[in-house]
Amino acid sequence: AGTVRVDLSGVEPGQRITVKWQGRPVFVWRRTPAAITAARAVDLVDLVDPIDSARENPNQAGDTPARDENRTADAAGEWLIVIGVCTHLGCIPLGQDGSAVGEFGGWYCPCHGSHYDMSGRIRKGPAPRNLDIPPYDLGEDLQLVIG
Ligand code: FES
Repeated sequence: AGTVRVDLSGVEPGQRITVKWQGRPVFVWRRTPAAITAARAVDLVDLVDPIDSARENPNQAGDTPARDENRTADAAGEWLIVIGVCTHLGCIPLGQDGSAVGEFGGWYCPCHGSHYDMSGRIRKGPAPRNLDIPPYDLGEDLQLVIG
């Protein structure tokens, strides 16, 4: 009951889609090369929350630097999949339609003004933590299993 399957093969580069998992939105973004490059160029010292615990990113074995390379579903970094719940007080950030992406190009939470970057990391505003990453499996056939 806790598992959701999604076919991502029709998602175009640059496109974002939202799927529901355990009552919460999961943001899926097939990033462009420019977005991948920008997300991977960020220094850990510039992050508010530079470490993701295994609870925050269950696809990693333990505490992991919040480098973009550790937060994407594929090695090349095309697929970023995060839980779309602001880590401040739980609003759903804007940005999935590509408009209100905030100052760092990812998502913007309008409730109290938190800005997330292109890796879903908190960069400005009151949210204390990066957007969580759900447990998932993404095969080469682009069949995503969440949970
Ligand atoms: Fe998102 Fe407060 S709930 S900034």
